[in-house]
Amino acid sequence: MYRNVIYPILQRIDAERTHDIVLQLLSRVERAPRLRALLRRLLSCDDPRLAVTVGELHFANPLGVAAGLDKNGLAVQTWGTFGFGHVEVGTVTPQAQPGNPRPRLFRLPPDRAVINRMGFPGHGADVVRQRLTARSGGRPIVGVNIGANKTSVEEGRASDDYIRALEQVYVVADYITVNVSSPNTVRLRELQGRAALDALVGQVTARRDAFSARKPLFIKVAPDLSAAELDDILAVCTAYHVDGIIATNTTIARPSSLRSAARSESGGLSGAPLRQRANDVIRYLYSAAGDTLPIIGVGGVFTAEDVLAKLAAGACLVQLYTGVIYEGPLVAWRINRELVRLMEQRDVGLAQLAAEFNSNERAVRGKREDHAV
Ligand SMILES: Cc1cc2nc3c(=O)[nH]c(=O)nc-3n(C[C@H](O)[C@H](O)[C@H](O)COP(=O)(O)O)c2cc1C
Repeated sequence: MYRNVIYPILQRIDAERTHDIVLQLLSRVERAPRLRALLRRLLSCDDPRLAVTVGELHFANPLGVAAGLDKNGLAVQTWGTFGFGHVEVGTVTPQAQPGNPRPRLFRLPPDRAVINRMGFPGHGADVVRQRLTARSGGRPIVGVNIGANKTSVEEGRASDDYIRALEQVYVVADYITVNVSSPNTVRLRELQGRAALDALVGQVTARRDAFSARKPLFIKVAPDLSAAELDDILAVCTAYHVDGIIATNTTIARPSSLRSAARSESGGLSGAPLRQRANDVIRYLYSAAGDTLPIIGVGGVFTAEDVLAKLAAGACLVQLYTGVIYEGPLVAWRINRELVRLMEQRDVGLAQLAAEFNSNERAVRGKREDHAV
């Protein structure tokens, strides 16, 4: 229904305008608890085999809304109703800001991709905190992704902003993500370098540890990093006992396979063309850190198979943004149902399903290589 009827209509409207309309609709559902309760009954897919525990956090299922989709926390409970086990609100900056000039969001339908150069437009951390304070209950898990205002990064005061944003939203967040990987705020990604990241994470964790309740802190990384750069990030994560790593943000690369007219727009590319690279980064991080550092996999997830590929690469949770644009807001509900169906069919749990998927994939890849020889 979404793919065949709603998406073709929405596709005619400017991409960001569509996004705003959909979020306005979802925020109305957010303010209608009876409607949400009804939807929850209709869309129920609560199966204990889908549950994932990361540290102290208990997720109803492995799927989450990736940062950027609900930047201002307008519809967190509604996303839960639609089957998401967690929602990452943000990127939230201390001050409200307009972001980059429009147009800044482009669909690439033949590539199942999106390019954006939003530049953290948002209502600011205080407004988001107030909005999230009104939320009731512990589900879904809500993370808040924090960043720096454009002017602060330009003036070399980025770390002050991370601390401020952390202070502003800490009380309403189940976990905090430090976003140092968005390509659309000039010089932000320089914070991923060893010395800069060490200084930033040192300050942010010290401030976090001053709160009486300890909440998990994740770092979100870019897909465009070398193995040596990922090693540096892992070293910082180990030094400061970071609780998890989110891999990955959008890429500045432009694969030669892209066919859409918008492929040369500047900004970060997400969706199907990012999938393989994100999986490679997850696999690399997992091979280096094993189970000591939980990995949240993001990039090009549209189906249950895509989820299994990320779990098989080493992720324990998975997030989606572009998949929601192309498949609609019920994508998580559909994927969860499919995961349950596959677990029932094979009589295995989620981890075993992912492991089987991994060995099947390897066998298929092996056969392809045999043919190539
Ligand atoms: C329009 C748009 C805005 C985004 N904004 C943010 C953001 O504010 N903070 C962030 O950490 N990631 C942001 N992202 C990146 C996503 O969270 C995700 O890491 C990336 O899109 C890859 O996942 P996907 O292929 O499922 O979209 C944004 C992505 C898109 C498409």
